[in-house]
Amino acid sequence: MSVPATRCGVVVLVSGRGSNLQAIIDATRAGTLPIDLRAVISNEPSAEALARARGAGIPTHVVDYHTYPTRAAFDDALRETIDRYAPDLVALAGFMRLLGPAFIDHYAGRLMNIHPSLLPAFPGLRTHARALAAGATLHGATVHFVTRETDAGPIVIQAAVPVRHADTPDILATRVLKEEHRIYPLAIRWFAEGRLKLAGGRVLLDGAARPEQGLVPPVPRSPE
Ligand code: GRF
Repeated sequence: MSVPATRCGVVVLVSGRGSNLQAIIDATRAGTLPIDLRAVISNEPSAEALARARGAGIPTHVVDYHTYPTRAAFDDALRETIDRYAPDLVALAGFMRLLGPAFIDHYAGRLMNIHPSLLPAFPGLRTHARALAAGATLHGATVHFVTRETDAGPIVIQAAVPVRHADTPDILATRVLKEEHRIYPLAIRWFAEGRLKLAGGRVLLDGAARPEQGLVPPVPRSPE
């Protein structure tokens, strides 16, 4: 499918290390992700992700939760900062603050997140340690549209990895992260190409239910 004449404007929200942001930047630079990465916004002033964005020449902003009297005031300030860039898509990439319903509704169908588990298993934090403790044999990552319920929106793509006997949370996290860096740019690419939509609460790729995926290794039917 051809790329729309106007590039999809994307704003990325971060809180920390920024390795998923880096994967998005790298794919954009490599020419495999046809987006206009307009800004990176962090709620954490010290986020390493901000340095990555600045290094790539992308405008950055900090919207620090602690400087707002209420959660709603923070959400409003964040929304105003984002909307200066009129993005087609807002991508959460390790953004660690919960967002309120008004904010989420404002970006309905154009707000995505990556979560380090095979949702609906292990929403929330410490997913790798919890997968190990539960004795999971498969673990992975999920890109999903964001809806009001945390880590529960319609799933765009998942990638599974095996859980091995010798795994620690860090070893498992590294295996999962490699997949995150593959599937998030791919999901954003689908969106940027106008192939991916949220319709009636369901994910459509090329106008149909998205293709089935193998689990290990994950093989989307039409990745390019
Ligand atoms: C990733 O594991 C992501 O799935 C989760 O937070 C982590 C962020 O890592 N939401 P990074 O900041 O992208 O390196």
